[in-house]
This record gives sequence, C-alpha cells and structure tokens, in this order.
Amino acid sequence: MTDPRPTSAFDPGNTDPAVTGRLVDVLDQLAASPGVRRLRAWAHERLAAAAGERTLDVGSGTGSETLVLATAVGPDGTALGLEPHPGLRAVAEQRAAEAGSRARYLDGDALALPLPDADLDAVRCERVLQHLADPARAVAEMARVLRPGGRAALLDTDWSTFLIHPASPAIRSALATVVQDAAATPDAGRRLAEWSADAGLAVDATASEVLLHDHRSVTWPLVQMIGGEAVTRGLITEAQRDRLYEELAAAAERGAFHLSVTMFAVAAHRPR
Ligand SMILES: C[S@@+](CC[C@H](N)C(=O)[O-])C[C@H]1O[C@@H](n2cnc3c(N)ncnc32)[C@H](O)[C@@H]1O
Repeated sequence: MTDPRPTSAFDPGNTDPAVTGRLVDVLDQLAASPGVRRLRAWAHERLAAAAGERTLDVGSGTGSETLVLATAVGPDGTALGLEPHPGLRAVAEQRAAEAGSRARYLDGDALALPLPDADLDAVRCERVLQHLADPARAVAEMARVLRPGGRAALLDTDWSTFLIHPASPAIRSALATVVQDAAATPDAGRRLAEWSADAGLAVDATASEVLLHDHRSVTWPLVQMIGGEAVTRGLITEAQRDRLYEELAAAAERGAFHLSVTMFAVAAHRPR
C-alpha cells in the first residue's frame, strides 16, 4: 500500500476476522440504507455499463456493486472489483460464487491500478477516496485506465456533515473528531468534481443523498465503531460511552434519534 495513512479498520494488514466481520456488518447495513441505494442507482444509471463492456469497481469492499456491473455487462463483458483487503475480497468472492456471478476480484491499490492505459469502458469508486491521503492520484489513475469516451462514477462521504442526536456538545465534538480523523481525506465528498476535472475528465452530472439513520434503521455497528474509537483515543471515558449508547438507544426507542451524513456523487467521462 502506498497510502501512508490507511485507516486502521480498512488497513489491508488488519486481517483479524473479527475486524473483517464488523466491516462487513457496517458495509451491509449502509448498503441497505435508502440514501445509499438511491445514490448507487443514480451512479449505475449514469455509468450505463452495457453488454460486452470492461468495467472496474475500485475498492469494491463486499463486492455488491461489482455484481451489479457483472449483470450489466453480461457474459461477454468483464466486471472487476479491485480490493486490497484480503478479508473483504474473500467475502466478495464467496458472494459472487453464491450468486453465480462472473464478477472477479483483484488485489491492488487505487493509487497504482494494475491495468494498462485506456483499458476500460467504465469505472466506479465508492467511499474509497476518503481513505486515501492522495485521492487526486487515484482519480488520475482511473482516468488513465479509461478509454477516450469511457465513463466514471465517483461517490463519497463528506464527514463535516456528520450529525448525531442526542449527545452533549462535548460528546458530539469527540465523535466528530473520530469520524473526521478516521478518514485520511474527510472532505472527499465536496472534492469529487475538482479531482475529476484535475484528472482531465469532463464532469457530466453531480448528485447527493443524506444518509439518514432514523430510529428504525440505526446502524448500531457504525455507532459502536465510532464510540469505541472515541474511548480508545481517550476522547471520552467508558462510562461516557455507555451512557451515550443508553441515551441513543432510549431515543431510538421513542423515535427521537438522529444520525446523518451526506454523500455526494459525480458522473464524468474521458473526452475523446
Ligand atoms: C468504506 S469501504 C467502501 C467499500 C465499497 N466501495 C462500498 O461502497 O461498500 C472502503 C474500501 O476501500 C478499500 N481501500 C482502502 N484503501 C484502498 C486503496 N489504496 N486502494 C483500493 N481500495 C482501497 C477498503 O479496503 C474498503 O473496501
């Protein structure tokens, strides 16, 4: 990995099965969120992967969106998922086998894609750039491997938009520090168009969705990941964390809970 600041949870060196299991839980719960589903649908529609095309999902995680690409390109096409985390790659491979999909998963780094120039018709990259210290270089790599006329869809969170309630101002500030620091580039969402333009891509459209976890759909593994990290870093005590969880759970129980963050997306193409 050439990224000097991979986040601990997504560090490919972190092969602890318990950590991988928690990552899969978080990714699966986010995948079920209506905002993520809508933004993914928008991005797939703009990407418009067609039968016979060669496509890539950079940082494919559990591989769900590579499966969507594989269906779109059909038996004559190629859907690759690039994923450096061996545990996530194994989950993606297993899910593709179970689904009878032709999606294939590769080890590799977004900063040095293992593909020749102008090799692909379409590339997507979701919630990966925020984990890179040099995301502009990763977008330049995606532009390099696209053929002239090839399409790109970039989706990412902007962590300055993280809101949680109820929590006291001090706890809110500790949790905001955790989410901002967990990402090497926490303002990735607002910079997708900038990086696309810098890479020579023509930006065609932008979109956003607020990922709203209401009291019926609280992503508890995400809340616990953030709370646990706040304790590990000494920003809050264990007692404060436990009280926070109790207050959030009680609020969720009576419909008074709020957790949200905004995700942005850009659709672009490589000019001919
Ligand atoms: C938040 S997850 C998103 C996974 C998936 N794209 C999704 O939307 O569910 C971030 C992903 O980026 C991957 N990742 C981290 N550093 C990477 C790098 N340098 N190159 C490619 N992928 C990377 C992680 O392994 C992880 O799968």
